[in-house]
Amino acid sequence: MSIQKNRKYSNKNLSERPIGVFDSGIGGLTVVSQVIRQLPNEQVIYFGDTGRFPYGIRSAEVIKRFSRQNVNFLIEQNVKFIVVACNTASAQALDYIRRIYTIPMVGVIEPGAKAAVRYTKNGRIGVIGTEGTIASSSYTKAMLRINPKLKVFGLACPLFVSLAENGYIDKKASYLVAEDYLEFMKKKNIDTLVLGCTHYPPLKKVIGKVMGKKVHLVDSANETASIVKQTLFKMGLINSRKKTRRHKFYVSDTPARLKKMSKYFVDTTIKKVVRIDINKY
Ligand code: DGL
Repeated sequence: MSIQKNRKYSNKNLSERPIGVFDSGIGGLTVVSQVIRQLPNEQVIYFGDTGRFPYGIRSAEVIKRFSRQNVNFLIEQNVKFIVVACNTASAQALDYIRRIYTIPMVGVIEPGAKAAVRYTKNGRIGVIGTEGTIASSSYTKAMLRINPKLKVFGLACPLFVSLAENGYIDKKASYLVAEDYLEFMKKKNIDTLVLGCTHYPPLKKVIGKVMGKKVHLVDSANETASIVKQTLFKMGLINSRKKTRRHKFYVSDTPARLKKMSKYFVDTTIKKVVRIDINKY
């Protein structure tokens, strides 16, 4: 099925086609927000796999299958480029799907890792993410490829996902959870902390307060959007036609939730969200 879908990826009017973005749920909207800000001429097609959320606790095999279906759906929407906005899917499935499809793709791990290596002064970097992302050591491997002398410390912070999903972004409970989790990082004397999960940027204020001003927070969403821009530019895929773009949002479960919670993740008001059956892909 994927090969057949892949054939639709032809060069005709390529730069005017939309950018496809997928995530396990709502969190990938943090990446959409940055893509829209940095690339105002581009149209975005977003798929949030809300019906199969969360990805962070699932096996690599399942994440690969889900990612493949998500890519098939986006290719059917005629996208020119795919952003794997989910850290867990980037960590566990990006290499796999890149081998299957010819459509260009970026994930969120490499951009976040590169930025962290750029920022650190003392060579001690922390990475927080889902259990799947941390277990894969993808961030650590990506950073050590750039500089093998770095000291990288990973920590899974699964409760941050629930806090962000429920709009608990600046509440007492958020600080309590953050203090408990981040105690480990504080002891490691890091100067840079990667927010290695789509759900963590809304908690930036809380995490920043707990870690203190001396620790630089790397938001993969922002870094990924810069890499998307650079890559589209290099490939001659930037859309130069100025016109109002209507971004499209799809989910695999009830659309109401994405509409309601989107305010924590994206600046744009999302009016229309369409539910699809991802199992058809
Ligand atoms: N989107 C996921 C990630 O960035 C977070 C939520 C999940 O567990 O699916 O890893």
